Amino acid sequence: RDMAGSAPEPKAIRGRLLSFTAEPSGPGDTASYRLIDDGLVVVRDGRIAEVGEARSLLPGLPPGTPVDHHPHGLIVPGLIDTHIHFPQTQVIASYGAQLLEWLNKYTFVEEQRFADPDHAARNASFFLDELLRNGTTTAVVYATVHPGSVEALFAESERRGTAMIAGKVMMDRNAPPGLRDTAQSGYDESRALIGRWHGRGRQLYAVTPRFAITSTEAQLEAAGALNREFSGVYMQTHLSENLKEIETVRGLFPDARHYTDVYDRYGLLGERSLFGHCIHLEDDEVRRLSESRSVAVFCPTSNLFIGSGLFDLERLARGRDPVRVSVATDVGGGTSYSMLRTAAEGYKVLQLGGQNLPALSAFHMMTRGNALSLGLGGTIGTIEPGCFADLAVLDARATPAMAHRMETVDGDLEEELFVLMTLGDDRAVAATYVQGRRAWDRDGGMGMVGAV
Ligand code: GUN
Ligand code: FE
Repeated sequence: RDMAGSAPEPKAIRGRLLSFTAEPSGPGDTASYRLIDDGLVVVRDGRIAEVGEARSLLPGLPPGTPVDHHPHGLIVPGLIDTHIHFPQTQVIASYGAQLLEWLNKYTFVEEQRFADPDHAARNASFFLDELLRNGTTTAVVYATVHPGSVEALFAESERRGTAMIAGKVMMDRNAPPGLRDTAQSGYDESRALIGRWHGRGRQLYAVTPRFAITSTEAQLEAAGALNREFSGVYMQTHLSENLKEIETVRGLFPDARHYTDVYDRYGLLGERSLFGHCIHLEDDEVRRLSESRSVAVFCPTSNLFIGSGLFDLERLARGRDPVRVSVATDVGGGTSYSMLRTAAEGYKVLQLGGQNLPALSAFHMMTRGNALSLGLGGTIGTIEPGCFADLAVLDARATPAMAHRMETVDGDLEEELFVLMTLGDDRAVAATYVQGRRAWDRDGGMGMVGAV
């Protein structure tokens, strides 16, 4: 069943609209966003054709144009998750281990099941359902070592019209035989997948050496070669997540100055490179990430759950050598698909370090900020003409506890956003649109569809 591209055009989505225009400097920065109390998004060919006040735009629409009205919702750009593992939907919530043991005991066992294309397809479908239920419309995704797992994910994403950035995990040592490729086969398979999927519709490829422990020098070299050969592909890996991991990397790469240098030597740093975690970095590593315009990915629920450590946002984003930062769930090390919950845990991680995460900054990160970290500003992450009409409709009164708390919020946007991120999860996502099509609808569309 083709779910993409079948809706009549144009169509419109009406409700309270929130979109960022700049990075908030702190609480109360009303210049960083645009809020329209009764706004309208007009969609043509999956893209936003016009945005503005409903009363000004409605009269100009052709008679019969369908309008989805969300009088009680807050419409934000579709949320963006910059680091998640789709083969870990049945690893999430695995008890009692830190990183290396967790990988061996749970993750590497589960990922072997993705040799079976049916298993991969079933999980890809579940995974995208779950993202959309959580208001996430773009994600940067690790598949497994099996090319078929990437195929399954992209095929499902293409069917739904979502934009996914994904890649085959490259792993040629320190993993079970069933999960190993070689420097050559990892290169060849990645190359074939790039040819097939990179830039096909909305799908983009990320070269994905899992992390330094599971790749030989020859494989990292091959990953670097792919990066050089195909400008425009992304690179994703893990960096400096756990102390035992860092010690192991030091033993495997005795000539490297530090963990970041292992990747640096093979040309893996750059503005399309995403490094998950970045918790225990030395100053020189921060400097190299900064110089290379690489992205450090903050994965708060994962860092707490696997006991990895506390991300230092202040040092990375606003230190002497500023590093571009994005935010992500890292399911299944992470414990929630919800970017709202992720923001809540991010807030708590920063609190433990005496730092802050204002609601405006959190919502900026989940939308425009993450889009910019992917170089996709102006196509996703904001509600403006030319962007894809990927939207999430949030409901700050989704649960009794939220509705009760909201009784004390008198129209203050930042308080509402903070309630949403602190108490909200998938229940607070009333609907999700992908290219203007309703891809998730919590309430079954009850009473919201009309026409001009
Ligand atoms: N480091 C290497 N692989 C992984 C993974 O799958 N999850 C996390 N959180 N860290 C990793
Ligand atoms: Fe991860």
